[in-house]
Amino acid sequence: MGNSLRAAALLAFVVLSILVSLLISSVQQFGARITHFSNATPAGDDEQLESLRGALIQQLNQRRKEILPLLVPDDEDENYAFSKRDPALESTVDSNLWNQITHGTSRAHMDAMGCESLVDMKAVEILGSGYTKLVVKVNLAGGQPVALKLVNEQGIDMGKCVEDFKDPQGCRELVGYKLKKEIVLLQRLQHPNVIKLRGHCVGDPGGQGGRGAEGGRLTVILEQGNPLQMIQLLQSPWEERFRVCLDLVRLLHFLSQSPLGSVALLDFQPRQFVTVSGELKLTDLDDASAEETACQTDADCTLQFPQKNFTLPCSSRGVCEGLNEKRNIYNAYRYFFTYLLPHQAPPGLTHLVNHIMNSTGELKADINQTLEAFEHILLLYKSGLHLDNLPPSIIRDYTVMQGMGTSGNVEYRCWPSYSQQGCVLSVHSAREAAHICNSHSQCTSFTLSGQRTWTGRLLASFRSGFSQLVPDSTSEVYVKKTKGSETPSDI
Ligand SMILES: Nc1ncnc2c1ncn2[C@@H]1O[C@H](COP(=O)(O)OP(=O)(O)O)[C@@H](O)[C@H]1O
Ligand SMILES: *[C@@H]1O[C@H](CO)[C@@H](O)[C@H](O)[C@H]1NC(C)=O
Ligand SMILES: *[C@@H]1O[C@H](CO)[C@@H](O)[C@H](O)[C@H]1NC(C)=O
Ligand SMILES: *[C@@H]1O[C@H](CO)[C@@H](O)[C@H](O)[C@H]1NC(C)=O
Ligand SMILES: [Mg+2]
Repeated sequence: MGNSLRAAALLAFVVLSILVSLLISSVQQFGARITHFSNATPAGDDEQLESLRGALIQQLNQRRKEILPLLVPDDEDENYAFSKRDPALESTVDSNLWNQITHGTSRAHMDAMGCESLVDMKAVEILGSGYTKLVVKVNLAGGQPVALKLVNEQGIDMGKCVEDFKDPQGCRELVGYKLKKEIVLLQRLQHPNVIKLRGHCVGDPGGQGGRGAEGGRLTVILEQGNPLQMIQLLQSPWEERFRVCLDLVRLLHFLSQSPLGSVALLDFQPRQFVTVSGELKLTDLDDASAEETACQTDADCTLQFPQKNFTLPCSSRGVCEGLNEKRNIYNAYRYFFTYLLPHQAPPGLTHLVNHIMNSTGELKADINQTLEAFEHILLLYKSGLHLDNLPPSIIRDYTVMQGMGTSGNVEYRCWPSYSQQGCVLSVHSAREAAHICNSHSQCTSFTLSGQRTWTGRLLASFRSGFSQLVPDSTSEVYVKKTKGSETPSDI
């Protein structure tokens, strides 16, 4: 255990050192090293290297071609309405964004950060890495926290490319296209549940940018989040797990009719998401696709998953109707809903939750209907309507003391609690809290502190005892009356 911890720490240190050295070394230095490398190659291999180079250039062009359609501004874009009248302007708009990403020249938005904002930054730790990218937690000179995304030099994508083409600099550029695609998608697909693009830097962080042109190192500057921890989420209250699912459905609703058309997330996994202040945000967009699947018959429109296959209708236009949307819904069901939604759902809402599980797991509902079902649950949950069957008289078992808190608490643990030390749960009202206290054999009193969860529900602390009451204008204490202590006025 100790050894593996030490190994993990060492690994983290090594990766961080590599990263820092990458940040420092300039593009020119890399160019020099590669020239040296190719000079040392025996002359007989020149021909082979030349054909590898040709193949790599072909791949680079292909990647570029994939991005260009994403650069065409959508109908709602004012610039585009303008450019429609003048085709010459349209190419200006597009190439501006492209030049900005490849050369770091002009800025699309006044608030976008560039290389200069990375001067004197402090790298704090590695936030995560995948096949393609490495993400580092950084504090900028002004103290602002951001996440930087770079090509992952140790990633599978780089490794495979270098093995195939023996050209690290060319491969950096090839893999860098995924980052470029991501920048374009982050600009086109802005939504509360998509990570915010703060800016980017081409070339030397801290430099002027523009050096190295097409081959320049690309650093994407993003809003900082926390990688989604499924294990941790599984142990958290239903309200938090429901939030993640609701955010996901809101995102999928947006993607189904985005400025780029209906977008499918081809690599749909919890690790492609982070949370920012409890809100779910998509961060890995390089595998997003707005392509439609052409078909002649319904049989051409199959969605295959390990547990289940679906066949969708082939429309009269000759495309699979709703394929991208349905693919997203089923992935949401299998990676998120099955783990997060049913478990410990409030009793008054289980029939609605079960309905969502069934309609998404069988692809019976589209994303509009799914979003409606989620928003309906949220409404009921917020308004406490699902608690209608709790008797109002239940609160009469308690003596309320307004403007009071407690000290010398005797805590007990419950699950899933908002606090590690005691039993803290969200409630709609004192009545629901009384109902919960009655169902815990250890509970003798509870406090409503005025603190609220994201839905606006109150946080209630339950306990088995306390030594004294203390004045606290923001809270109220409810103490369970012992049997036989009722006075005539209570009845
Ligand atoms: N803005 C961010 N804040 C915090 N962590 C992030 C952020 N963006 C990505 N990560 C973490 O970094 C990992 C790798 O990023 P990702 O874009 O998914 O790279 P890849 O394309 O290689 O999978 C993610 O799985 C996630 O845990
Ligand atoms: C899904 O379809 C594939 C290809 O037709 C088939 O091999 C697989 O067994 C099917 N899976 C299920 C769960 O039906
Ligand atoms: C949906 O409900 C039907 C009928 O009750 C059941 O047969 C099916 O297994 C359910 N599917 C899922 C994914 O829960
Ligand atoms: C889904 O809702 C959007 C508006 O939010 C609407 O434009 C679209 O037509 C709806 N789709 C379907 C299939 O009802
Ligand atoms: Mg990823």
